[in-house]
Amino acid sequence: MVNTKVTLSGWELDNPVIPASGTFNFGKEFADFYDINMLGTFSFKGTTREPRFGNPTPRIAETPMGMINSVGLQNPGIHAVIEHELPELKKIFNKKVIANISGYSVEEYVYCCQLIDKEEQVGIIEVNVSCPNVHGGGMAFGTDPKNVYEVTKAVKAVTTKPVYVKLSPNVTDIVEIAKAAEAGGADGISLINTLLGMRIDLKTKKPVIANKMGGFSGPAIFPVALRMVYQVAHAVNIPVIGMGGVSSAEDVIEMMMAGATAVQVGAANLVNPYACKEIIEDLPRVMEKYGIKDLNDIIGIA
Ligand code: SIN
Repeated sequence: MVNTKVTLSGWELDNPVIPASGTFNFGKEFADFYDINMLGTFSFKGTTREPRFGNPTPRIAETPMGMINSVGLQNPGIHAVIEHELPELKKIFNKKVIANISGYSVEEYVYCCQLIDKEEQVGIIEVNVSCPNVHGGGMAFGTDPKNVYEVTKAVKAVTTKPVYVKLSPNVTDIVEIAKAAEAGGADGISLINTLLGMRIDLKTKKPVIANKMGGFSGPAIFPVALRMVYQVAHAVNIPVIGMGGVSSAEDVIEMMMAGATAVQVGAANLVNPYACKEIIEDLPRVMEKYGIKDLNDIIGIA
């Protein structure tokens, strides 16, 4: 019998496997495939103050071992999430959820986080300063340590729940950005969001994606994500949720050895809707194979 339970800021999860924001919507689509209560939890779609239709299509390009998306934060807006999505989710999910909040200004992050903080279904607020697909918001915040500090501090001033800041890998020094979030009062760090990438269609001679560029994710980015999780986990004194190309129980264990307390699974859900279920079911076997009795024993062991 192995122990898969992990704790994030005092919140005990049955296992460390968490579908990543933007790959699980608000849960109900996946509940048609399996009982999503088996998940550690999940992070819901990045939510902004106003509803957003998102970017023009095509928004997706395939790559070897991955994909590029330029969804553009399509979401129903914070008020619809609170009034409709969370009550719907309550019918099918009996755990708390991670609320992923995106924005275009410090005021917008503050507005949304203050509202979502009041929702008892929310366990952690994940402040997304790393979306590469919008202009003037998202990643524009996450690539400047001063902005990261300012957003984190402002959100912390109006919230009571743990605040995790989701970082962009599209920076020179990820440690500097993570430290800025920690200095601003972050309770944890989520990383990495997608890498900025592009594809060109040889027939049309134009970018595949209407917005030209987008966020590259999938197994190809796993070593980059692992490296950044390792660097950040060794530099800060707050928990790290690792993500980026995770698609197997072995990847989850590797991320935890790099320093992650929990692990998000993103693009894999889009390839196989059962990905998280299969990873959770396989975790005890892989733990036994490598002589791991308790996942907590391997966090940062590398
Ligand atoms: C998107 O909606 O464009 C993706 C969200 C993100 O990368 O944070």
